[in-house]
Amino acid sequence: MITNFAKSDALVKKAQQLIPGGCHTYSKGADQSPKLGPKFIARGKGCYVWDVDGNKYLDWAMGLTSVILGHAYEPVLRAVRAELKNGSNFQCPSPVETDLAEYFLSQVPGADMVKFAKNGSTVTTAAIKLARACTGRKYLAFCSDHGFFSYDDWYIGKKPNNAGVPAEIAALSLTFNYNNIASLEKLFAAYPGQLACVILEPMEFDLPADGFLKKVRELCTKNGTVLILDEMITGFRLGYPGAHAALGVKADLTTWGKGVANGFSCCMLAGKREIMEAGGITHDKERVFLISTTHGAETHSLAAALASIREVKRTGLTARNMRLGEKLRKMLLPVIQDAGLSEHIVIKGHPGWQLLLCRDAGGAFSDGYKTLVFQEAARHGLLFRGTFTPSLSHGDAELERTAEVFRKILKVYAKAVDAGDYRKFLVGDPVKPVFRKFN
Ligand SMILES: Cc1ncc(COP(=O)(O)O)c(C=O)c1O
Repeated sequence: MITNFAKSDALVKKAQQLIPGGCHTYSKGADQSPKLGPKFIARGKGCYVWDVDGNKYLDWAMGLTSVILGHAYEPVLRAVRAELKNGSNFQCPSPVETDLAEYFLSQVPGADMVKFAKNGSTVTTAAIKLARACTGRKYLAFCSDHGFFSYDDWYIGKKPNNAGVPAEIAALSLTFNYNNIASLEKLFAAYPGQLACVILEPMEFDLPADGFLKKVRELCTKNGTVLILDEMITGFRLGYPGAHAALGVKADLTTWGKGVANGFSCCMLAGKREIMEAGGITHDKERVFLISTTHGAETHSLAAALASIREVKRTGLTARNMRLGEKLRKMLLPVIQDAGLSEHIVIKGHPGWQLLLCRDAGGAFSDGYKTLVFQEAARHGLLFRGTFTPSLSHGDAELERTAEVFRKILKVYAKAVDAGDYRKFLVGDPVKPVFRKFN
């Protein structure tokens, strides 16, 4: 039973004095963790992590989904070590840039060129810029049902916490809903010939229905609008190489990150030559200053990406994760049923990345009950933050352990539902939405 989080709590206090938010991703913040839960991780190996208090957890969060093979996965570390000893940044490009570009493009159908960066936000924003430059249009449409696309103004301008973003910038971003083609048709009708691009994930936790993606593709083609599919989470996880290939939809541009380098910092903007080459230096048209960053091609991160993608392919990881996720779902459903919680807890999504939805006694989605699950998971040694993110390092033993722990978690959940109040069982406050206007 894990009960000691003293060092985690002390570090939260210190970090919040030194670093705005106390961390570098809002979803890693202390407000995203139960009070009785780990807030600083010291190390990881495979699908296990150890917090700064020395507590060990079976990890279902896997570095915000970025660790697809396992923490400190040796074949990737070997490639990184080999590259590190040669230095990491030079005045001229390094051959690893073309090695990775060549291999990545050989794996991604429909992509002719690729550009690397350190962050997902950089590549989604670059995709938007490229689409605007190539179409000469200023409006964009993003899917508001999908979790996150960028910390840049075009996206955050539309969120409650949009301080610092001029309203004029936010007004150029329009939103539509997933699996609701009418919501996108409406935008095309209201802004004829003015939409530079449409950006969405191929899927998040809902599968496309009624030919939705095909219809999005048709609308974009008909209107001369660039279709950007964001494979940041889905890439190599929900299909090989990505969900768009698995779902049979062709994008003009795709964006990649989490999962391509097993937690190392490497993201990609990939796409059709006629669009991508606008960012090049060999054409005679107006130039697009595409992605240009000092650290974008840090050599060992590119080596990590090359080794990771090869390992994902060699091990048949995408299909394996799917089998594992399906098995987990099958193991958890009876546990939920036995606890009498089938009306309150729903597992949804693709087996490669599943979401646990928590409802309160009255049936409403509840951050309180969700936090109660996080708290009880931590108590029994699971790092669970709402989704099951399998990796190559997870296996049958971890599935069994998870089902066993969920039996215990759901006993507490059921008691809270019976009492009609999670607060009798949760220590501290529920987690808060990342997108909120005030703290
Ligand atoms: C679908 C999606 N796109 C883009 C991003 C942004 O990536 P990054 O955090 O590397 O900037 C994220 C990150 O959560 C994401 O989930």
